[in-house]
Amino acid sequence: MAIRFENLKPKIGASVVWDSREDLFTEEAAKLIREKVEERTVLVFPKLNLSDEEQVQITELIGPRQMMHVDRETGDLKDIYQVTLDRKLNPQPEYVLGTFFWHMDGITVDAPPSFATLLSCRRKAPEGGQTEFASTYAAYEGLPDAEKVQLAELKAVHSVKASLSHIADAIPQREYDAVTKIGLIKEHPIVWTHGSGRKSMVIGTTADHVVGQSIAAGRAMLVRLQEWAAQPDYSYRHQWEEGDFVVWDNTGAMHRVIPYDARSGRMMHRTSIAGTEAVS
Ligand code: OGA
Ligand code: MN
Repeated sequence: MAIRFENLKPKIGASVVWDSREDLFTEEAAKLIREKVEERTVLVFPKLNLSDEEQVQITELIGPRQMMHVDRETGDLKDIYQVTLDRKLNPQPEYVLGTFFWHMDGITVDAPPSFATLLSCRRKAPEGGQTEFASTYAAYEGLPDAEKVQLAELKAVHSVKASLSHIADAIPQREYDAVTKIGLIKEHPIVWTHGSGRKSMVIGTTADHVVGQSIAAGRAMLVRLQEWAAQPDYSYRHQWEEGDFVVWDNTGAMHRVIPYDARSGRMMHRTSIAGTEAVS
């Protein structure tokens, strides 16, 4: 077999092993990778050292690649989004500070959430900067039956504003206003029943409150669900090495990064795969 997978933890994660690097750039490998991401939530390709062109190529093979990175200067769509807190490279690091808290990508926009997010580690932080993933498939599965019944009909309201609530008073007012004036708000069921029949949960910092419940009770429930999903059994922490490439199923996981310093030089190159399913 040209590529193989080794599980990292019983309920989440797999590491990819390949004989020859070019074995990864085939339709056949892309199909196996896609299936494995859905099954294991997070796939780690240790020290693959992708160039940007190769990252775009592998993203397109798994595909379809989602173009969602707009160059702030030219307004053009960019192939690679640079995840960094370095103000010289990212004039609007507010979104990146938001990654310190459990979230899913693309939950408040008018399109199905991305199927997968792909990160290549260009420079790791000397301290912090590990990325954590929590499988909301495994977490849902592990809930007591009574709680599954209780969640079945519930919906949560998601917003960009909610996702920034932890850092609102830590960023300049003008920037906070610029980001929140976009005002995206979406209502999603808490339990996402996928076309496959499997169920995951749509939770994380974008989730503001629960429809039909008091703000306090709904928020407390959302926080408890986050804590439940973040248990060691359902989560995996990736300790980055430069060149590592990680792909995760954004439709069945929350993720966050352990805080790192803006001067650390940490740099990740990100691409995304478009979602095919709206939350339902
Ligand atoms: C992201 C993100 C995590 C990280 O880019 O959406 O959450 O480890 N990144 O930088
Ligand atoms: Mn993210």
